[in-house]
Amino acid sequence: MPDAKFSETRTAARLSVAPMMDWTDRHCRYLHRLLSSRTLLYTEMVTAPALVRGGAFHLLEYSPQEHPIALQLGGSDPSELALAAKMGAEAGYDEINLNCGCPSDRVQSGTFGAVLMREPERVAECVAAMREVVEAEVTVKCRIGVDEQDPQKVLPVFLEQIKTAGCERVTIHARMAWLQGLSPKENRDIPPLDYELVHQMKADFPDLHISINGGITSLVQAQEHLDAGLDGVMIGRAAYHQPTDILAGADPLIFGIGQIADPMDVVQKMLPYVEAHLAGGGRLHQITRHMLGLFAGRPGARGWRRMLSEGAVRENAGPEVILRALDSIVSNASVEQVV
Ligand SMILES: Cc1cc2nc3c(=O)[nH]c(=O)nc-3n(C[C@H](O)[C@H](O)[C@H](O)COP(=O)(O)O)c2cc1C
Repeated sequence: MPDAKFSETRTAARLSVAPMMDWTDRHCRYLHRLLSSRTLLYTEMVTAPALVRGGAFHLLEYSPQEHPIALQLGGSDPSELALAAKMGAEAGYDEINLNCGCPSDRVQSGTFGAVLMREPERVAECVAAMREVVEAEVTVKCRIGVDEQDPQKVLPVFLEQIKTAGCERVTIHARMAWLQGLSPKENRDIPPLDYELVHQMKADFPDLHISINGGITSLVQAQEHLDAGLDGVMIGRAAYHQPTDILAGADPLIFGIGQIADPMDVVQKMLPYVEAHLAGGGRLHQITRHMLGLFAGRPGARGWRRMLSEGAVRENAGPEVILRALDSIVSNASVEQVV
């Protein structure tokens, strides 16, 4: 029986923005939250050793507006992960997620990420250790297999093990990771997607809350997966590069609440956040780099990108750079109307 206290985060997990190193930092998440009030947002991966041995508490900082928010941890040592999970839960994260899908070299060398698909027992121990010490829900993000593994065989075994250890919600990136010979970037594109297998897993594990991830580029596609019985859809690159396309309609279309967000309003709502960041000694481009795609596919998008990316790196650049770039969108939109 699913735990009632997790129901809000589970509802949010109908749509989530994937954890992405260097991309889904707190500024990016703040922007995404203005586009959708419900979509579940993931942090970048934070390694358990960085928290537990490195004392890198700043990696846990976020704005309260970002809820519902999940902390993704990387690691493979149950007691270290348990300590890191506890730190995350104490910081107020709604969910603690274990990364079993990331193929980067650095990550492999420390037995993190996708290589853990080979060690379901160890993953189960990690899940159990984390569950033991936190109230927040413990979840897993995984691949369908790695290297020579047969996903049809290994994925059900993996899911069974983590389920037995107390993980009730999982996100499956629907492609293998080929750890030998492909870069992390290639590993997000080259191994073929197998959506059917993920749908099959939902049929085989009806009690498990399963989200699908990989190559989904529109809300229409997301809705198709939900209609076909999956519990959630996680979107990564498309949500980052075209945040308005993916997130502005998420509240009404996926969650049945609220209105479609207007990216112009979202920019205005970012201004106080930007000002606070600058007042605290931050740089404008640290925020605006995540805003470049807000008008993707809309009139004036190119000017917006150019003005933001060139203007925001200048010394003492402030909110006026954003307002000027916004003007170029407004004038383009009115030209469009006249035509
Ligand atoms: C720049 C970048 C960084 C990523 N970092 C992480 C990460 O920290 N943890 C993780 O589990 N996956 C990471 N991923 C993988 C994404 O979470 C996601 O699984 C992948 O991009 C496939 O989804 P998509 O096709 O919707 O982008 C990253 C992807 C990108 C593009």
